[in-house]
Amino acid sequence: MSAPASKTYRPETRLVQAGIQRSPFGETSEALFLTQGYVYPSAEECEARFSGKAPGYVYSRYSNPTISMFESRMAALEGAEAARATATGMAAVTTALMGLVRAGDHVVAAKALFGSCRWVIEEWLPRFGVTSTLVDGTDLDAWKQAAQPNTKAFFLESPTNPTLQVIDIAEVAKIAHDAGAQLVVDNVFATPLYQSPLALGADCVVYSATKHIDGQGRVLGGIILGSEKFIMDHVHQVIRQTGPSLSPFNAWVMLKGLETLAVRVQRQTDTAAAVCAALAGHKKIERLIYPGRPDHPQADVIARQMKGGSTLVAFEVKGGKAGAFRFLNALRLVAITNNLGDAKSLVTHPTTTTHQRLTPAQRAELGIGDGLIRFSAGLEHPDDVTEDLLTALDAV
Ligand SMILES: Cc1ncc(COP(=O)(O)O)c(C=O)c1O
Repeated sequence: MSAPASKTYRPETRLVQAGIQRSPFGETSEALFLTQGYVYPSAEECEARFSGKAPGYVYSRYSNPTISMFESRMAALEGAEAARATATGMAAVTTALMGLVRAGDHVVAAKALFGSCRWVIEEWLPRFGVTSTLVDGTDLDAWKQAAQPNTKAFFLESPTNPTLQVIDIAEVAKIAHDAGAQLVVDNVFATPLYQSPLALGADCVVYSATKHIDGQGRVLGGIILGSEKFIMDHVHQVIRQTGPSLSPFNAWVMLKGLETLAVRVQRQTDTAAAVCAALAGHKKIERLIYPGRPDHPQADVIARQMKGGSTLVAFEVKGGKAGAFRFLNALRLVAITNNLGDAKSLVTHPTTTTHQRLTPAQRAELGIGDGLIRFSAGLEHPDDVTEDLLTALDAV
């Protein structure tokens, strides 16, 4: 038994109800089908399923009822025709990009990318004869000028990790399409609730489900969403044949994570905004970046394309790396780690972690100073979190 047609419901309802497939037992909660494969009532049925002539599950590398529920729920939330789950966010990014290109093709990407995404573009794709140009994502002319006759993919994340720069997705999608390329958007920081890249014209959206979707620091996962054609042309076979598949157990964890996504993201956004208000103008802080603030450099784009602020805040403490480390080491409640979107409030020092691979000049170009801190709001009481951050700033 499947859930009622989810498209007619609001996002909060889709997060809880969409995509559920009940077994003959009629379980309330989504069942965990922890199985690598399936048995068939006859050799003829087995042959028909393998050839694709009969519907049904074959092997969990490419389909599994729990994973299908996660994919359907995400597709309903995102307004996508199809989705494929992957083992990690990086598997989603790599599969989407590798599925789009062949040797001799070219990719244009924004410079401000999560470290591993930038490595895939700069180091990995060239090994297969795919060249790339990195641009300032906020400079629309730069995207236009970078496109070549062999450009097949445009790639960006917005807001960016870690400086929360916001890129105009609708405009970049138009430029990509004029150039005959397809746009892939990494929507991790926005979450499916605050930004809908497909509705803005993107061809594909990818997530690290490890972040807000699980939201409780338990498992890794990823997902790729797009039209049926995009998924069938570029993603389906790559996942089926090369196997970056999500485990059913992790898909089940993600399904349960989605049920609470809206309440968590709302609470985290409120806390991020409260933290921002407390840090604004603080004498130990040089720079404060938050997509919900009117002084954000792309406030006009945010007003057009995002439905909410952010669960993340970036700020630069005085004193460079030494100042940042004094701050980090003085925290008592907020943990130093590299995850985000978690129930626990977390801080990251991008220079020495996620963006360590870049040269100091490359980091400077992206506005990643040695004193930059990325704060991810959790679900604790906002006053306890704010007090911890303010006390730690005294140590800077
Ligand atoms: C923007 C962004 N994209 C992709 C990833 C990769 O996700 P995962 O760690 O699940 O592979 C991350 C974080 O790790 C990220 O912050």
